[in-house]
Amino acid sequence: MSTDNMVDVARAGDLAPNSALKVEVEGHDIALVRCDDGVFAIGNRCSHADVDLSEGEVDGCALECWLHGSQFDLRTGQPLSLPALEPVPTYRVEIVGGGDDARILIDPTPQPTAAHE
Ligand code: FES
Repeated sequence: MSTDNMVDVARAGDLAPNSALKVEVEGHDIALVRCDDGVFAIGNRCSHADVDLSEGEVDGCALECWLHGSQFDLRTGQPLSLPALEPVPTYRVEIVGGGDDARILIDPTPQPTAAHE
């Protein structure tokens, strides 16, 4: 996989298991999230009322908005529960290296929105 458009945003060791970190990449406000299935990047602004999703809780492979509780699927950006109805963007992530010193890279181009499953 090409790393041409990838931007180095964090050290792997700085993203604890089941936590989220807010990063800004080329004007995109992004929540970087580590869950049991890996590291994901989704838009940081909740599609319901524009608050930081990175301040919410990681629950399985979803990030829960702290304000009204909508959960967003980390793979697709789709809301899994109300009140949010619109998806948030997703971004491609690559990990380069190993261990805590591995680097987390993000492609700041939003991925096409995945359909509901
Ligand atoms: S602001 Fe996120 S669910 Fe309402």
